[in-house]
Amino acid sequence: MSNEGKRLVGRRALITGGAGGIAQETARRFAREGADLLLTDLNADALTPLLQELRATGTSAVARSADLTKRSDVEALVAHGEEQFGGIDILVTCAGGYTAYANFEDIDEDDWDNIIDLNLKTVFLCCKAVLPSMKRGGWGRIINLGSLAGRSTSAGTSPAHYGTAKAGVSMLTQYIAKDVAADGITANTLAPGTTITDRVRKVLTPEKEAQFVARTPIGRLATPQDIAGVITFLASDESVYITGATLDVNGGRLMLT
Ligand SMILES: NC(=O)c1ccc[n+]([C@@H]2O[C@H](COP(=O)([O-])OP(=O)(O)OC[C@H]3O[C@@H](n4cnc5c(N)ncnc54)[C@H](O)[C@@H]3O)[C@@H](O)[C@H]2O)c1
Repeated sequence: MSNEGKRLVGRRALITGGAGGIAQETARRFAREGADLLLTDLNADALTPLLQELRATGTSAVARSADLTKRSDVEALVAHGEEQFGGIDILVTCAGGYTAYANFEDIDEDDWDNIIDLNLKTVFLCCKAVLPSMKRGGWGRIINLGSLAGRSTSAGTSPAHYGTAKAGVSMLTQYIAKDVAADGITANTLAPGTTITDRVRKVLTPEKEAQFVARTPIGRLATPQDIAGVITFLASDESVYITGATLDVNGGRLMLT
């Protein structure tokens, strides 16, 4: 197949939370744009169907299990990328989320630590681990997944620890962007609004969905495709002059909150 017009040919991308809805769609887009892919999730077996699908189209894709809250797992993951592809040029941090809404006073210390670790520490560890490779190559794209919940408390029903961690992702990304701009590396946050993935479908009641849609000028919730398209743009050369930004991809919901 010709590489003409493909935007990520020769780029090696690490996508975390690879079994999740937004990550899977991002992997498909990246594959279509010619990237090599290292996918990771807690249990890499969950990535087997996606790997088969990607390889069937001729994409070079590998998967590895990692608990990204552990530095040793993150370092082993990046070392695997070095072995397989010789380096990593693009990092997309999709691992994250929360399981249930809780009022602030019902969040205990363990919940707090778990959610901050999953949504913020994982981003810190992954960014730190990929930077030597990106610096060597003189080119890099870091795309961290924030959230509308980190942009406004009135946007939905997300719990305080999750929203705080996601706000932290935006600020951490700015600090990284500032430090590595001279190395040809950009770092940005993409903050999605409610996006219909399998996980979200399970927790979203029809009433909640109708409420969210009513507050969204574009008149519908996001699809993983909506988000993956913007991630792909951020991963490409076309985004060269964007760094330290948080891109709000929420159908206009933030401006009404
Ligand atoms: N879907 C939405 O409505 C929405 C909205 C705003 C922001 N986001 C953010 O976008 C990202 C992707 O969202 P999604 O809905 O596609 O996610 P998802 O829940 O479908 O997938 C997240 C993945 O992360 C993995 N994971 C969990 N803990 C991990 C760990 N310790 N180490 C490694 N992997 C781990 C899970 O196994 C899962 O496959 C998340 O960071 C989420 O917070 C999602």
